[in-house]
Amino acid sequence: MNNQEKNTVNDLLNIFGFAGSLRKDSYNKAILRAAVELLPKATQLEIFDLEGIPPFNQDLENQPSARVKEFKAKIKSADALLIATPEYNYSIPGVLKNAIDWASRPYGDNAFDGKPVAIMGASIGMLGTARAQYHLRQCFVFLNMHPLTQPEVMVPLVQEKIDKDGKLIDQKTREFIHLLLENLIAWTKRLQKDLLK
Ligand SMILES: Cc1cc2nc3c(=O)[nH]c(=O)nc-3n(C[C@H](O)[C@H](O)[C@H](O)COP(=O)(O)O)c2cc1C
Repeated sequence: MNNQEKNTVNDLLNIFGFAGSLRKDSYNKAILRAAVELLPKATQLEIFDLEGIPPFNQDLENQPSARVKEFKAKIKSADALLIATPEYNYSIPGVLKNAIDWASRPYGDNAFDGKPVAIMGASIGMLGTARAQYHLRQCFVFLNMHPLTQPEVMVPLVQEKIDKDGKLIDQKTREFIHLLLENLIAWTKRLQKDLLK
C-alpha cells in the first residue's frame, strides 16, 4: 500500500521535520519542537537531527552510510516535510545543503521527488532567514517538490522569543507556526486527492 492509499484508510498524516543546525541550543531546533506542541489533530511530526550525516562525496553516493539511508527512508515514507533553516551568510547552512544533496542522490533516486514541503526559519538578525528561505526554495525546483507558499514563517530576533529552557514563548510566532502546519496539511491533502483521481 502506498502513502496515499494508507492515508485514505487511517487519515493520519505523517510529517517529517529537520533543522539545518547541529547546535545543541539551536533556535531552529526550538521552533521545530514548538511545531510538535502546536500540531493539529490526526497529524504526527517526527524530528530528525542531521548530526552524523557525513560530508557528501559523489564517489560514495551508491553506498551511503546507515545514517543517510535512515534519513532518506524517513523522507520517502513521509506525507510532507517541514524544514527549519538558519541563515548563514545570506544563504542556507552547509549542513542543510549537504543533507539535501545526500537525499537527492544517486540520480534517479531523489527522496524529495513530489513531496509537499513547508519552510520556517529563525535568526538573531532582523530579516529572520528571508534570504536563506528563498535560496532553499530554489533547491526545491530541481528536487521537484511542492512547496507551500504561505505563511512565510521568518522569525527575526529569535533570541528574545525563546526562554532559557528552549521553549518558544512568543505568542504571535506560535500562531504563525500553527497556521503553517494547518496550511501544510491542507496542501498535502489536496495534492494527495489530486493524485488519487
Ligand atoms: C557562519 C554564520 C553565518 C551567519 N550568517 C547570518 C546571516 O546571514 N543572517 C542572519 O540573520 N544571521 C546569521 N548568522 C547568525 C544566526 O542567525 C545565528 O547563529 C542563529 O542562532 C543560527 O541558528 P541556530 O540557532 O538554529 O543554530 C550567522 C551565524 C553563523 C555561525
